[in-house]
This record gives sequence, C-alpha cells and structure tokens, in this order.
Amino acid sequence: MKLMDRVAIVTGGGSGIGAASALAFAREGARVLVADIDEAGAKTTAEQIERQGGQAAAARADVARAADNQTLVERAVAMWGQLDVFLANAGVPQWPTDIEDVDETVFDRIMAVNVKGVWLGAKYALPVMKRQRRGVFLITASTAATRPRRGGQTYAASKGAVVTLTKSLALEAAPHGVRVVAIAPVATETPMLATFMAKPAVDAEGRSRYIATVPLGRLNQPEDLARTAVFLASDDAAMITGSCVLVDGGRCA
Ligand SMILES: NC(=O)c1ccc[n+]([C@@H]2O[C@H](COP(=O)([O-])OP(=O)(O)OC[C@H]3O[C@@H](n4cnc5c(N)ncnc54)[C@H](O)[C@@H]3O)[C@@H](O)[C@H]2O)c1
Repeated sequence: MKLMDRVAIVTGGGSGIGAASALAFAREGARVLVADIDEAGAKTTAEQIERQGGQAAAARADVARAADNQTLVERAVAMWGQLDVFLANAGVPQWPTDIEDVDETVFDRIMAVNVKGVWLGAKYALPVMKRQRRGVFLITASTAATRPRRGGQTYAASKGAVVTLTKSLALEAAPHGVRVVAIAPVATETPMLATFMAKPAVDAEGRSRYIATVPLGRLNQPEDLARTAVFLASDDAAMITGSCVLVDGGRCA
C-alpha cells in the first residue's frame, strides 16, 4: 500500500474527482477526512470508505471560509495525530458566457472557492506539514489554466492562479521536505461537466464535441485523477514538486 498510515484531507470529497480520490487514498491505507460544503455527499464518501474497511470521517466545510479550513486541519490532527496529504480539490465551474455578460458576483464566488479556497487550505495545512518535515499539498487545477475554452475566462483565470500558487508554495515548502503539486484534468465525467458544456445534463452532442478535442479520444473518468493523486501523494513522486501534472489525453500537446 502506497499511503499506509498516512492522514489525508480531501476537499470537495463528496462528489466526482474528490470522492474517487478519497476512496483511492483509503484503499492505499490512508485515514481520510472527507470535507465538502455538501455534508451529505461527504458522509456518503466516508461511509463508502468504511464499508471498504478503511478509516474516514466527514466534515461540512466551505473552503472559502478561513475558519472552516482551520477547523479541518485541527480536526484531522486531533483525530489522527498528523497530516500527510491535503488535496485542495473543491471547485465551482462557470457557465460559458462572454465577459460583458458575466456578473461580478460570479467572478467573486469562483475566485473565493477556486483560488482563496486553495490559498486558505495551504495557509492552515502547510505549517503542520512544515513542522512534521513531511507532507504533500495537492491542488486540482485544470487544463483551462493553459488551454481555456471560449466563454470560460473567469474559471480559466482561477485555475491559472492556482498553477502559479503551486509553484510559489513549492519553493517555500521544499526546504521543509514538503511538496506542492497541481493536477490539471481535461473534461472529466462528473456532475460539473454539464455546466462547462452549457447544458442541464451531459448529452451525446456535448460528449462528442468534447471528445473531439482530446487526442486520446475519450473523457477523463474520476478514477484517472484519483490514480494520479495517489501517485503524487506517495513516495513514488518524491522528486516531484512545483509541477502541474496534465491528465489531459493530449489536449494541451
Ligand atoms: N469535471 C471536469 O471536467 C473538471 C475538469 C478540470 C478540473 N476540474 C476541477 O476538479 C475539481 C473537482 O470537480 P469535479 O469535477 O469532481 O466536480 P463535482 O461537482 O463532482 O465536485 C465538486 C465538489 O466540490 C464541492 N464544493 C463546491 N464548492 C465548495 C466549497 N465552497 N467548499 C467545499 N466544497 C465545495 C461540491 O459540493 C462538490 O461535491 C474542481 O476543482 C474542478 O474545477 C473538473
């Protein structure tokens, strides 16, 4: 097992990529605090982990709130004595819209969750990891950071910001033996995908339009990202920090 006896926090763990990653961390031996603004979703993932024979707890947390991030970190350390992995994964999408029609409140919420939410996670998790002289802070970015789609300017800017944040945090964490890595998925089959396609639900037209933009000819499944997160969280990735790892089927090539 690649994460035996490690302690992980996963934000946005109630659905999609976060849920798959939390389950995969637990299968590799980690104890996982599953956090989500959707408390029922977090509980469902934690219960699935326990049914698999793993150890988990669930927490309601809005990553845009400092106090919620602080409480998450304190709770993991109080329960399990350490914090080895923090997957800052919670995010919100953007309905494709030309900039003149994007309301400022949309900008503010996307930035609050996708940028400030990651920044706050780092603010509270990294000091613990630095003290331990061990830890991995992972960030779910997006191919939108480097290969945006039309009408997604606000979401793309938020993901670009966290790719740069990853590099800067990696520099300050490295002397303490702590790594910081971003993961950039191309379109992934989760509840979020329909919004990117400007549809109420993913349909055949949307799926084939997106698949046409991925050289490997398919969309990501959440497990594609979960396997990447396990690798990056593990000692197999001991020399990887400051990078943004594309999981994109060649879209950004
Ligand atoms: N699905 C895609 O095509 C895709 C592509 C690239 C990147 N991403 C990124 O992957 C990450 C996970 O998204 P997903 O695709 O699994 O979507 P998802 O909608 O399945 O999951 C997102 C989760 O984040 C939670 N969340 C939203 N706001 C939150 C907040 N303020 N605090 C705590 N939790 C919050 C939601 O409740 C949900 O459970 C996001 O950062 C997203 O931007 C997704």
